[in-house]
Amino acid sequence: MSLQPRNPNNRLSAEHALFVGSSGSGKTTAVKQVGVIKATDQVALFDPYNDYETLCGREVRRYTSLAGFARALYSARAAKAGRGFKIAYSPKDGANPKNLEAFSKIIWGAGDGLHKKPLKVIFEELAKCVNTSGAARGAFGEILTGGRKFGLHAICIFQRGQEVPKTVMGQCSIKWVGRQERKKDAVYLADELDLPVDNIIKLPRYHYLMKTADHNIGQFDQGKLRKLAA
Ligand SMILES: Nc1ncnc2c1ncn2[C@@H]1O[C@H](COP(=O)(O)OP(=O)(O)OP(=O)(O)O)[C@@H](O)[C@H]1O
Ligand SMILES: [Mg+2]
Repeated sequence: MSLQPRNPNNRLSAEHALFVGSSGSGKTTAVKQVGVIKATDQVALFDPYNDYETLCGREVRRYTSLAGFARALYSARAAKAGRGFKIAYSPKDGANPKNLEAFSKIIWGAGDGLHKKPLKVIFEELAKCVNTSGAARGAFGEILTGGRKFGLHAICIFQRGQEVPKTVMGQCSIKWVGRQERKKDAVYLADELDLPVDNIIKLPRYHYLMKTADHNIGQFDQGKLRKLAA
């Protein structure tokens, strides 16, 4: 039987985020610098290609075994002080649906609506780990649709909108869009995320559009990433 999250709390707000852009558009860089993660946050990462050596100035503790990852995550969550941490699962056989689901089950079990801090969860390479563009299923789907009440904030990263479940588009209140290589990908995102297609098409590399829960329909921010030190 898998572990269940504790203490559902309806007062918590929905804070899932998505980062979408063609390869090399700056998604991983953006996650590190646009403010969705802070140094003091508790963060779990599905990081199959070791993209995060550090995150917001903090070392990322990395595990290639799921059991090792789960032990580290649960004991860090149980510590009373509620200190920040960054703990990654980097499975040896990379990004695939089996590994995403196993990781998601561990995350789901770490949810707690009365915990001092939310658990922010980075899902890198999402498109390689899902089989559908319909509804998200399994523990990953549970995190998106029910994670809010348990303080779970998903951060979903992928290259093309058509390759991930519609649930991701519908549930993420924070949206970061980087450069698109193909017009039809830009058109899809414009439609799904309520952003003007011309602004997406014109985006140069490392530039982005971003929408948060504070923006009304038709509003968004524009920005450019800084190059991070290696
Ligand atoms: N503003 C910038 N100026 C110059 N180089 C940058 C800038 N932002 C990011 N880069 C560099 O561009 C490269 C690609 O960035 P990044 O890894 O964030 O892209 P990505 O969208 O995550 O790519 P992928 O789809 O392959 O994961 C990195 O080497 C990064 O250091
Ligand atoms: Mg990346």
